[in-house]
Amino acid sequence: MLEALNPQPQDKILQLIALYRDDPRPGKIDLGVGVYKDASGLTPVMRAVKAAEQQLWQVETTKTYTGLAGDPAYGAAMVGMILGDGYADRSATVATPGGTGAIRQALELIRLATPEATVWLSDPTWPNHPSIIRYLGMKMAEYRYFDAATKGVDFAGMKADLAQVAKGDVVLLHGCCHNPTGANLTPAQWGEVADILAARGAVPFIDLAYQGFGDGLEADAFGTRLIAQRLPEVLIAASCSKNFGIYRERAGVLIALTEPSRKAVVQGNLAFLNRQNYSFPPDHGARLVTMILADPALTADWKAELEEVRLNMLTLRQSLADELRRATNSDRYDFIADHRGMFSRIGLSEAQVMQLREQHGIYMVGDSRINVAGLNATTVPVLAAAIAAVGG
Ligand code: LMR
Repeated sequence: MLEALNPQPQDKILQLIALYRDDPRPGKIDLGVGVYKDASGLTPVMRAVKAAEQQLWQVETTKTYTGLAGDPAYGAAMVGMILGDGYADRSATVATPGGTGAIRQALELIRLATPEATVWLSDPTWPNHPSIIRYLGMKMAEYRYFDAATKGVDFAGMKADLAQVAKGDVVLLHGCCHNPTGANLTPAQWGEVADILAARGAVPFIDLAYQGFGDGLEADAFGTRLIAQRLPEVLIAASCSKNFGIYRERAGVLIALTEPSRKAVVQGNLAFLNRQNYSFPPDHGARLVTMILADPALTADWKAELEEVRLNMLTLRQSLADELRRATNSDRYDFIADHRGMFSRIGLSEAQVMQLREQHGIYMVGDSRINVAGLNATTVPVLAAAIAAVGG
């Protein structure tokens, strides 16, 4: 049987972890996978997470199963954080293993309900989106998103393509901090997108993996909240990996907004899908998040630390844009300061990306996506000089 298997293509982002690790050069710089690192290169456990873990160790008396959808308190806490109040009647939720688990369950739900639906993806998008859709045998299409010349959103192209979406099709949107480009919709543009999707009868599917990493916890939820207010059905796949820094705990959630009369059936289908795939979702990370969000002191401390993380990334963006001004004697990298989130697609060719890797020990994804959080005050000028040296 197993001889029938073919080698799978390596994931372009995860592949960089091993390449970087195996590089013996002392000055190497890792701008690959989307993991936050502080100035010393560490991905710290956040203070509130440590405090919640300590409490949990004291109070947890059992490790028996939760429910198929996870602890309902976690779903409610995540709905509150993402959407605010007023969604209890409309929201069905399941805990999932990370944001990827939520995306996978959302796609399975779409396939179960409307197997013929096309899922529209931004061009470009996180490579695992099309990979999972292809694996599930679903239909997909792309809408224009990134303007390679301006490094901003090609909003005219995006609108023109979304106007082609058929009734019942699903449109996957990045809620904030677009991965891989770093270019995001303005509040007014979110309003226009909501109008188009409502007029087409499309179902928005929002991937929210970086809430709090762009313009702030509330501001980063703006687009998601607007869509939730205007559209009758919305899927939201959210991750706690980045904003709570609990990557390996695999805490994600899938929220399905629907009419109150359909909520019970949708909830039952979400639980069914969890049962088919892995029965009960992981609990530890989700429980920590629930505890933090239920305790005002822990919430305040978590928000303060998240804000430090966000501001640190903004400072790095500004200093990289400044250094690149000096190094290239041009303003063509100013957009890096305007982008938001962990990533920016900086517009180098694949050959230049390879030169940076081979000659300078600088690792980024082949489409020239950099993880800004992989930088620090020392490496910013090194990267800028190296980009100039390869003719960027
Ligand atoms: C990334 O895009 O680097 C992150 O979302 C991590 C991943 O799983 O790819």
